[in-house]
Amino acid sequence: RFYSLVWLEEVSSTQDWLKEKSINCVVVARRQTKGRGRYGRSWQSDEGGLYFSFPLTETFKDEQTLPLAIALSVCQMLEDYGFLASIKWVNDVYIGGKKICGILVEKTKDRTLIGIGLNVNQKRFTESLQATSLLLVSGREYHLADVLLKLLDRIDKNLDLLKERGFQVLREEVKKRLLFLGEEVVLYTDPPTVGILADLSPEGYLVLMTAQGEKKVVSGDITLRGT
Ligand code: BTN
Repeated sequence: RFYSLVWLEEVSSTQDWLKEKSINCVVVARRQTKGRGRYGRSWQSDEGGLYFSFPLTETFKDEQTLPLAIALSVCQMLEDYGFLASIKWVNDVYIGGKKICGILVEKTKDRTLIGIGLNVNQKRFTESLQATSLLLVSGREYHLADVLLKLLDRIDKNLDLLKERGFQVLREEVKKRLLFLGEEVVLYTDPPTVGILADLSPEGYLVLMTAQGEKKVVSGDITLRGT
């Protein structure tokens, strides 16, 4: 799946680069000048982080669970390095209550573009971000290409599983690493929904136990209540 790789010094966004070029490869950048996150947010992309994107042209069973399959791959790769990481439904990976990785999934006419930002060797972040890096957690630096190759390997395997057997084979692994499971969370709908994060449905949706009963959540951002 990941047979060619382009490594750039600087780019506006690896996601936009792929859109413009229509090339099927993994594109990595040392820095991004206009790194993007979900909901039009920006993604701080100073040197030291791992910023990359790749296109998918295949079809997957349970396509809506792609972000979870990728987040699981990130957790498993980090576990191989000795870190304990959790999946903040549906697109983020956290270590010690702070964000270490964000995942962007964008559909174009004929491709699905996956963008991953993993904080590796950054020494600081804008304070309001509540972000961390592998260096800040462990006190040591990591080789970006090593991390990238290990992550691509995990992603490749999980995408094979998703493609052939569907989300059911990944669900337990995701659930084990799900942040806030069993805790009271707020979902930022309008007005916000409060409930206990009770389960992850077979389709990869969140099951919230609210005062009005069980609610299945298809998209959105959650935080722990009272934070
Ligand atoms: C999020 O947490 O909202 C998703 C962040 C995704 C950031 C990555 S970095 C590589 C790729 N290029 C971008 O501009 N964004 C994604």
